[in-house]
Amino acid sequence: MSVCRFPRLVFALLFLLACITGCATGPTPGGLTPMSIARVESLIVRMTVEEKVGQLSLYAPAGIDIVANPQAARQSQEQQLADIRAGRVTGLFNNAGLEGKRRAQQAAVNESRLGIPLLFGADVIHGFRTVFPVPLAEAASWEPALAERTAHASAVEATADGFRWTFAPMVDIARDARWGRGVEGAGEDVYLGRQFAAARVRGFQGKDLGRADAMLATPKHFAGYGAAEGGLDYNTVDLSERTLREVYLPPFRSAIDAGALSIMSAFNEIGGIPSNANRNLLTGVLRGEWGFQGFVVSDYTADEELIAHGFAADGREAAKRAFLAGTDVSMQSGLYMQHLPGLVASGEVPMSRLDDAVRRVLRIKLRLGLFDQPFRGLEDAAGPRFDSSAHQALARDAAGRSIVMLRNDGDVLPLSKSGQRVALIGPFAGASDLFGPWMVFPGQASPAGIEEAIRNSLASPELLTVVRGSDVDAPIAGGIDAAVAAAREADVVVLSIGENEQMSGEARSRSDIEIPRAQQELADAVAATGKPVVVLLRNGRALALRGAVRNARAILVTWFLGSQTGPAIADVLFGDVNPSGRLPVSFPQTPGQVPYYYSHKRTGRPQLADAPATFYKARYLDASNDALFPFGHGLGYARVRYEGLELSSPGRMAWDGTLTVRARITNTGKREAEEVVQLYIGNRAASVTRPVRELKSFRKVRVPAGQTMAVEFTLSRADLMFIGQDLQPTVEPGNFDLWVGPSAVGGLKTSFRLAPE
Ligand code: BGC
Repeated sequence: MSVCRFPRLVFALLFLLACITGCATGPTPGGLTPMSIARVESLIVRMTVEEKVGQLSLYAPAGIDIVANPQAARQSQEQQLADIRAGRVTGLFNNAGLEGKRRAQQAAVNESRLGIPLLFGADVIHGFRTVFPVPLAEAASWEPALAERTAHASAVEATADGFRWTFAPMVDIARDARWGRGVEGAGEDVYLGRQFAAARVRGFQGKDLGRADAMLATPKHFAGYGAAEGGLDYNTVDLSERTLREVYLPPFRSAIDAGALSIMSAFNEIGGIPSNANRNLLTGVLRGEWGFQGFVVSDYTADEELIAHGFAADGREAAKRAFLAGTDVSMQSGLYMQHLPGLVASGEVPMSRLDDAVRRVLRIKLRLGLFDQPFRGLEDAAGPRFDSSAHQALARDAAGRSIVMLRNDGDVLPLSKSGQRVALIGPFAGASDLFGPWMVFPGQASPAGIEEAIRNSLASPELLTVVRGSDVDAPIAGGIDAAVAAAREADVVVLSIGENEQMSGEARSRSDIEIPRAQQELADAVAATGKPVVVLLRNGRALALRGAVRNARAILVTWFLGSQTGPAIADVLFGDVNPSGRLPVSFPQTPGQVPYYYSHKRTGRPQLADAPATFYKARYLDASNDALFPFGHGLGYARVRYEGLELSSPGRMAWDGTLTVRARITNTGKREAEEVVQLYIGNRAASVTRPVRELKSFRKVRVPAGQTMAVEFTLSRADLMFIGQDLQPTVEPGNFDLWVGPSAVGGLKTSFRLAPE
């Protein structure tokens, strides 16, 4: 149904105006035609203030139980439908079923005065019906193109259910493993984070937002949310503007450059200003510096939370501050609807600001094709409207590529399918806790767990014994004895231990990042049998490993891998898939080291890795400064050798030139290697201190057994940029170290000088 119920003459005038303002300077705002711009303007001139504010008010469907904030669920479904008919709602998010969405859309399109369609949003974070690995796991693949494919598949599934807007990707850099939400992002590194941010936006949105399977992407949480003090979710953030600009903002910039047209403001404050009302961020940086054309949506009731922050005295002040700072759409609190009309009437909020926000929302609804096909995806259809077997195959591939092999002493892996008796021990042996956080959608196929997949892989089911041994957090009576007995009978123990789904994600920070005690005791007892132990970690963060877990013969990081967890793990365990993941987060030696990240500063008293520990150095008395397993680390079943590092102009990068870096990777193993070749830079001295090293590029390459491959990178001055003393991007002449290697530690090393102009 169309919304063009408007006198033709006025429309023609608006069209002309749109042509003059929109076309004179090249591309039209938000990629719209003058006709579409005029269509939006024609609506704005007819909207009441309340209808305008309605386009800025987003809600969860009425009548559902909202744990996080029960008072937000105050409406009945009938009241919500009445609000929709009155034009007081821009869209609904999450738990809206197909029928509920259809009914709501009918109310909006056919029963409201202007017929403006609703936009349905959801936290489609790592899949919809098919569950893909959690984002942190996918980052471990070091294959942004893979994340683009899974984001696209998620969009295909979610749009078939009428959702056209995802609150993803989460692009917060996470350097404190205690913070539970690190599982939703791409880890600790800026460069890797940027690649994944952009890839996921491309995957969700595709090339054309108007396509039926495109979802509007929402990089979140803007900004600095991952820097919460103590790793405590929602906690205060106090960051220098330099670190904000150098570490936390770049992934947002990459997401926006990739085309993201909405962005979510964060819960946290930075230096006293809650992000949801931070004008400098939401208007200065986002619009002024980056030219962002989309709309800003608040996080869940984040405007109302300005009161709890102590930043607003009441709801009216909270709405005013959030809106004037640049948060266009309010999620769930209802504060905009309560207060913006009055604030506009009193002149405290200019009508032009209201119109700008409404314009942004309507333009995006138009680009999504909602005005012309508001019921797309909402029709009733039997069965899934996508190729679920193709998506399951993608989930298996993605899961396999996300697994990181940290150790494989004596080549205990891969296991033999016929020659070994396997004892599978631990609370994650079955099919629980495979999805990870954010799987809030009904109709997901039940996943295949590890036990089933291992049994299917073995030549005979008798080769497998399964013992739970312990619960996640508590011992089971007789559990350890049964596990030890099973280990004694076996040739190899596969120990499936770690964290459950409730231990990472939103509001799930841990003060201790070790394996829970009951499981650690199980691991220690089983390892005491002397049988070789292969640890399968289930985790949503970097863990601090100790005892038998730390000393296991083999360790695989298997995160939360989704629908195909079991088969993907079996693929790697039995060698059908060569593990090719690399850590996107450093695994520290002890919990006390966090926040721990490879790209730290030197300090004035560095404790250098190869120097004896001396007093008056930046070191702990009781722990080393190293990671147990560094960022970028991961092994495969083949062995590779790095050699022959050379620069196109030895020792020198010309100011306006490029530098080609070459290295040779030789596969000395017996099967194909998949290697992530990483390039790091360290700036020895600058007008602002620089990290010890920073990832600047990487390539994931396949090297056939026995062969050598040349890997090439090109660097230019732009790769040496940092935020200068004046907080502007700058590059200075100087001396740089450069490493090409398999992780953030070691590697082939050379150096060069960036010569002045
Ligand atoms: C989370 C967001 C999420 C929103 C809507 C909030 O609690 O912080 O990441 O998108 O809820 O579900």
